[in-house]
Amino acid sequence: MTEFESSVAERVMQWQRLHGRSHLPWQQTQDPYRVWLSEIMLQQTQVATVVGYYGRFLERFPDVASLARASQDEVLALWSGLGYYSRARNLHRCAQQVVAEHAGSFPSSAPLLATLPGIGRSTAGAIAAFCFAERVPILDANVRRVLTRTLGFDKDLALAANERKLWELAYELLPREDLQQAMPRYTQGMMDLGAMICLARRPLCGQCPLQACCMALQQGNPENYPVRTRKLLRKSESWWMLILRDPLGRVWLQRRASKGIWAGLHSPPVFMQRQALLDSMPPELSVSGMVEMPAFLHVLTHRDLHLHAVQVNVNRGAVFAVEEGGGWFGRDRWQTLGLPAPVRKLLEDVA
Ligand code: ADE
Ligand code: SF4
Repeated sequence: MTEFESSVAERVMQWQRLHGRSHLPWQQTQDPYRVWLSEIMLQQTQVATVVGYYGRFLERFPDVASLARASQDEVLALWSGLGYYSRARNLHRCAQQVVAEHAGSFPSSAPLLATLPGIGRSTAGAIAAFCFAERVPILDANVRRVLTRTLGFDKDLALAANERKLWELAYELLPREDLQQAMPRYTQGMMDLGAMICLARRPLCGQCPLQACCMALQQGNPENYPVRTRKLLRKSESWWMLILRDPLGRVWLQRRASKGIWAGLHSPPVFMQRQALLDSMPPELSVSGMVEMPAFLHVLTHRDLHLHAVQVNVNRGAVFAVEEGGGWFGRDRWQTLGLPAPVRKLLEDVA
């Protein structure tokens, strides 16, 4: 073990004790179910938002068995507003798999955890380090930033071989003694450094416990790390959304396909062209009351959606069917459904 390696772990742990976060709800437990739930929620969502959802979720589903028994609709409804709904679907499938294949207990090693739906290598590492003090690294976006900067690791992470190399280096830097205390402390410390100090823009190197050994700081270019050449190809699309209201003020919603954007959630019918939306309306239906709402932008991971909502009041209820598998929903019913956040907002504006 080099002096460098031991000092990185020591510095991170010492800093975590004094300056890291210690009162987040999921830090008060070593129950894998609770830690797993928090890690999934935190994957793409800020701590401040997660706290409320986490509490409500645990109140309704206090253990993995209760979550496994729930309907997908109820899980999606509780997730509503957190976004990235594939997380919620995987969460549900994962709970069912833990019950069916692991007798209701999460497996207690990172490699086995990583076989479950929605649990990638880094999330598996976090659960195993926090709950079982396993000597495994994590490498989420925050930690990737801290490590590439500290090490001056300037290889292109778009290449799998370089990504593997960084995992190996992350492993080498882990604490080697008193793992029971050290692994949770170090893991939380790396997360906290990434979230609080080693920021993507303008890192606070003056407050960083790694400043004495950080290569990027010595070079004067922390913001150049991590290196990743491949750019995400962002696509832009326009969607026309048909918001039908019947005389009772109910709206027509249908469940979206189980694959793709907003999979499994409820939504008004969506068309890729304005003309297709107009063509979908039965000729006997008067469209004189049609209101085209101003388009707005909804940003997804790989896509910009320009949403054009078209509101039509239908004078006869119940018989209208744009496509099979839909239904009329009053406010009290659609409020409990899993809805994409922009759809929920639209319905609130319309109703
Ligand atoms: N982000 C991911 N995991 C986290 C954790 N355990 N605490 C705070 N932020 C996190
Ligand atoms: Fe990040 Fe600066 Fe700390 Fe280096 S010294 S790890 S760049 S915050």
